[in-house]
Amino acid sequence: MKELLRVTGLKKYFPVLKGLFKKKIGEIKAVDGIDFTIGQGEIFGMVGESGSGKSTAGRAAIRLIEPTAGHIEFAGKDFSSLNKENLREFRKEIQMVFQDPYSSLNPRKTIGDSIGEALVYYGMINTHQEKIERVSEILEKVGLNSDIMSRYPHEFSGGQQQRICIGRAIATKPKLIICDEAVSALDVSVRAQILNIFSTLSQEMNLSYLFISHDLSVVRYLCDRILVLYLGQMMETARTEELFTNPKHPYTQALLSASPKKHPDEQKQRILLKGEIPDPMHPPSGCPFRTRCPYAREECKEPPPLREFLDSKGALHSYRCILS
Ligand SMILES: Nc1ncnc2c1ncn2[C@@H]1O[C@H](COP(=O)(O)OP(=O)(O)O)[C@@H](O)[C@H]1O
Ligand SMILES: [Mg+2]
Repeated sequence: MKELLRVTGLKKYFPVLKGLFKKKIGEIKAVDGIDFTIGQGEIFGMVGESGSGKSTAGRAAIRLIEPTAGHIEFAGKDFSSLNKENLREFRKEIQMVFQDPYSSLNPRKTIGDSIGEALVYYGMINTHQEKIERVSEILEKVGLNSDIMSRYPHEFSGGQQQRICIGRAIATKPKLIICDEAVSALDVSVRAQILNIFSTLSQEMNLSYLFISHDLSVVRYLCDRILVLYLGQMMETARTEELFTNPKHPYTQALLSASPKKHPDEQKQRILLKGEIPDPMHPPSGCPFRTRCPYAREECKEPPPLREFLDSKGALHSYRCILS
């Protein structure tokens, strides 16, 4: 599989300011040095509890917010050093779909204008007729009737609104879409339909996704590979099936045991996830998970080793833990 996105050493620190003079009293290491790659047409999942840094990682990886550090390559080009002007050209190659479709649509714009806007902006269409044709095609792709073009977002259900947002995201024929909790607010029945749309579009358009979700069953259904994030750090990365059948990191095991199981064998892995994520301003030294880990020992106060091996299908499985 050809590589589309390569992210190395990505960090995003937010300063914590206090008082009238906005004195910096500390920082939140929302993303603290993560590496990942996404192949062309690959669906790459990122999971972790709320506050683990998923949204920040997704935004920083495409420079929607400026990373504190890190190197980003997109389609073989150095993306981290692009200036604003060149970044704009790349913007049509990368789109986002968010959790709340209604708030990401302009309530005063018709569906046709919302979807057609980027096509006009990037000069991808020249006439009104072209716009209508292209928007109709897009609406059809996301399972909506083209006669809704002149209607407004509030006239639609949450699931339909999310279809519209997906339509808007694919309008410029991007290579990569970042989906940040894109199905988390939807009813279970609608969720399955939207996941199917994502899956079909990926195949039809050779589209890659960075699919961010706190919900393991969602990433399991859709993703080819998954990265497990905790307090801004990578705990484990593996192929989806490998991660679910052979989780190595205690945090992954704990997440899996908190989510409904698909197979009785998964029971073996059950460990309980106790307590809350620590204060991100004062994360534990060494392994960030050690304060909640049932296997924690003295050595865990030091940064854990990165362990890597090839799984039964020959794909890389990596995790950071003293356990082997
Ligand atoms: N703009 C910001 N300013 C300060 N802290 C932030 C900002 N955005 C996120 N954070 C903090 O960074 C951490 C990770 O947040 P986020 O990336 O939203 O996690 P997730 O998406 O996994 O829930 C949290 O502790 C959050 O409070
Ligand atoms: Mg988030």
